[in-house]
Amino acid sequence: MVITNVSLLNFRNFNTLSLNLRENLNIFSGANAQGKTNLLESIYLCATGRSQRTSLLKELIQFGSDSAHIKLTVRAGAANRIDLHLRKNEKKGVAINGVAIKNIGDLFGVLYVVIFSPEDLNLIKSGPADRRRFMDMELCQLSKVYYYEIQQYVKALKQRNNLLKKIESAGGQLRDTLPVWDENLAAHGVKIIEHRKKFIESMSLLAGEKHAAITGGKEKLEIIYKPNVAAEDFAEKLAKNIRRDIQLGSSSIGVHKDDLLFLVNGSDGRVYGSQGQQRTAALSVKLAEIELIKKEKKLLPVLLLDDVMSELDESRQTYLVKKITEVQSLITCTGAEDFLKRAGSANTVFRVINGTIFNEGDRHGS
Ligand SMILES: Nc1ncnc2c1ncn2[C@@H]1O[C@H](COP(=O)(O)OP(=O)(O)OP(=O)(O)O)[C@@H](O)[C@H]1O
Ligand SMILES: [Mg+2]
Repeated sequence: MVITNVSLLNFRNFNTLSLNLRENLNIFSGANAQGKTNLLESIYLCATGRSQRTSLLKELIQFGSDSAHIKLTVRAGAANRIDLHLRKNEKKGVAINGVAIKNIGDLFGVLYVVIFSPEDLNLIKSGPADRRRFMDMELCQLSKVYYYEIQQYVKALKQRNNLLKKIESAGGQLRDTLPVWDENLAAHGVKIIEHRKKFIESMSLLAGEKHAAITGGKEKLEIIYKPNVAAEDFAEKLAKNIRRDIQLGSSSIGVHKDDLLFLVNGSDGRVYGSQGQQRTAALSVKLAEIELIKKEKKLLPVLLLDDVMSELDESRQTYLVKKITEVQSLITCTGAEDFLKRAGSANTVFRVINGTIFNEGDRHGS
């Protein structure tokens, strides 16, 4: 897949922008706070309906404006246009080839992206919520059914938690209505477990291959899915914990407590891994994501690398540079010089200055 054009209107610090992208390497260089991450964010948003850094999409609308627009032209065989419209007090609007979609699930598959930010380097050592988010964002792109299941699960969980809180204050009278939500939670939870299990098995194999290649065969990486509850025990455990859940006012069992384990040479990478090993594992996971999309969708995703080059040592940088030439990539950095020596010629570089993008004397946006 190739993004041929990005157009922005009142998006973060971009007033207007119309930028034609190259088919392979696009490097965005600039000082801090100029709009590099903002540009990648606009693309990630069009692929997934979400921002990689905030859940409050109104933050993306330019200060002083009421709405923001993003238009992407994507070529994958045929050309598709994604139009995304953010408004201050309304839901976001998305159209594909001019036709409005009602469910964000319909957006998945128009553009596949793999994003790699410095925070992703912490995937192994950060909290379980980040690892669940990683699974969810990847799986939603790969499967509309998964997106639906997650939506339904979150809805059921919210309603169950609300009810649990009310039961405590209403003296237990509402308790009889709990089984409806328990059934709902278990039905969608079981489906989510199945999807996550299969996904992590594939990721473990692919990331394991990448990790072995980067470390010259010295290290073995395995990823293990750790569901909070086994699918077959879901309903039973939920029922068993009802009293505790009422006391807590929240649900203590379910896929919202799942986690992943990263084993490096057989031991827990979060506890025993060095920072370098953890970073290599995170890089391997990202490279595996590209492979998985390639394998399952028969399409190459667009790679968004936000300022990670400077976080990697030279050998890992070299490895990554070799890989990124296979897909369209948008890479941001503050000092392109070192990395450029390995990546190619200087005319692949766009300069980002205060919400404007320049290249070879051209000016894109205002
Ligand atoms: N809604 C908004 N309206 C206008 N400007 C915004 C908005 N949100 C963020 N900005 C501005 O965007 C700039 C940050 O842009 P961005 O995060 O893309 O920087 P960057 O080039 O990636 O920098 P760094 O190298 O530090 O990561 C800041 O100056 C910030 O004030
Ligand atoms: Mg940035």
